[in-house]
Amino acid sequence: MLLNRSAARAVNISDLRELARRRLPRMVFDYIDGGADAEFTLRENSRVFEGVRLRPRCGVALGACDLRTRGLGHELELPILLAPVGSSRLFWPRGEEAAASAAGRARTAYILSTLSGTRLENVSAASSGPCWYQLYLAGGREVALRGMARAKAAGFSALVVTIDTPVAGLRERDLRNGVRELLTRRIGAMLPFLGQLALRPRWLLGFLGDGGLMTFPNVELASGPMPYADVGAVLEQSVVCWDDLRWIRDAWGGPIAIKGVLSGDDARRAVDTGADAVVVSNHGGRQLDGVAPTLEVLPEIVAAVGQRTEVLLDGGIRRGSDVVKALCLGARAVLVGRAYAYGLGAAGEAGVARALEILRADVLRTLKLLGCRAVAELDPSYVELPGSWRGACRGGAKSYRDD
Ligand SMILES: Cc1cc2nc3c(=O)[nH]c(=O)nc-3n(C[C@H](O)[C@H](O)[C@H](O)COP(=O)(O)O)c2cc1C
Repeated sequence: MLLNRSAARAVNISDLRELARRRLPRMVFDYIDGGADAEFTLRENSRVFEGVRLRPRCGVALGACDLRTRGLGHELELPILLAPVGSSRLFWPRGEEAAASAAGRARTAYILSTLSGTRLENVSAASSGPCWYQLYLAGGREVALRGMARAKAAGFSALVVTIDTPVAGLRERDLRNGVRELLTRRIGAMLPFLGQLALRPRWLLGFLGDGGLMTFPNVELASGPMPYADVGAVLEQSVVCWDDLRWIRDAWGGPIAIKGVLSGDDARRAVDTGADAVVVSNHGGRQLDGVAPTLEVLPEIVAAVGQRTEVLLDGGIRRGSDVVKALCLGARAVLVGRAYAYGLGAAGEAGVARALEILRADVLRTLKLLGCRAVAELDPSYVELPGSWRGACRGGAKSYRDD
């Protein structure tokens, strides 16, 4: 694995983001970087971490710190998993395989999106670690059954069902960049937007060498793999309701996480439906703009179901201290999306490995500075929350005045 020299020098996730911005065409970079509507929730997801203050215990002698956690039956070396990120093949040739391989080397889990451009069998073969499969009911239950059977046969050990996507969010950057027009494959409509691809010849060569315009090979419709242009319409017809979740649980017969939970009520319902884990997620601010940042709703969800199930969180994580804050507030582990997608866009597998290494070193350093020897020992007493987080201070977190 050749580590691109600039990616090796990346000090933080922002550096990887900048490298990805320079290598990718604008429409691909904005697809990763952007959010829904006014991008309020996208910004808040990261900003909220700044409001949570750390309360170290100094003068504590620590040996090696223990970063291990467990997730859906797996021992993970890091409390950081790779979130499902659709169409990763746009960022780097066979991008899903590259990311899964980096996750396996870091001894953590990779979650493959239904809407990936790479066959799930190849992704599982590329990773030496656990792989989980994220399910959309794209194409209906029969199509989902085929996907689940293939995932099981290929060794995917858990299913992650996303419930926050009854319709694709409005990503204004995608509209401005001509994503719709580029997918029509009609040269007249595409022409005004082709310049951004020509400006990135190295990316273009890699993309064309990897087969060019994609299908979704894990969504096998009667007519063949789902074509790329159909995705918006398909999502609208694939709403996952609670009845579907019961059906999915029985059809899968293994561990299930429900992703996209934002309230204690929905978390309870998810657990009553048979979820082994819930992922507190607003889809990285890409779906309903205006919902609360995930870290802020985490205490409510931990209070509702933390004793009965594993609680994971994603959204806005760019630093190891963000990971630590989420764990202090009761998350078992976090998922990162953009943090590794920037690395993938910057330098492929080496870039994902660098993103994970940056976050791993950050978490380790933060633990040492906090005076805590293991991620499993983090608790709310290590943080201080803004006073505006009504009712979130149960369980030991202090609050400070933020007016
Ligand atoms: C480019 C991109 C594509 C995504 N595709 C999917 C997907 O196919 N399925 C899904 O459940 N979530 C998807 N997500 C959401 C992520 O799984 C995750 O919830 C989100 O990225 C977390 O926020 P973060 O990017 O700030 O870490 C996607 C996110 C991004 C950035």
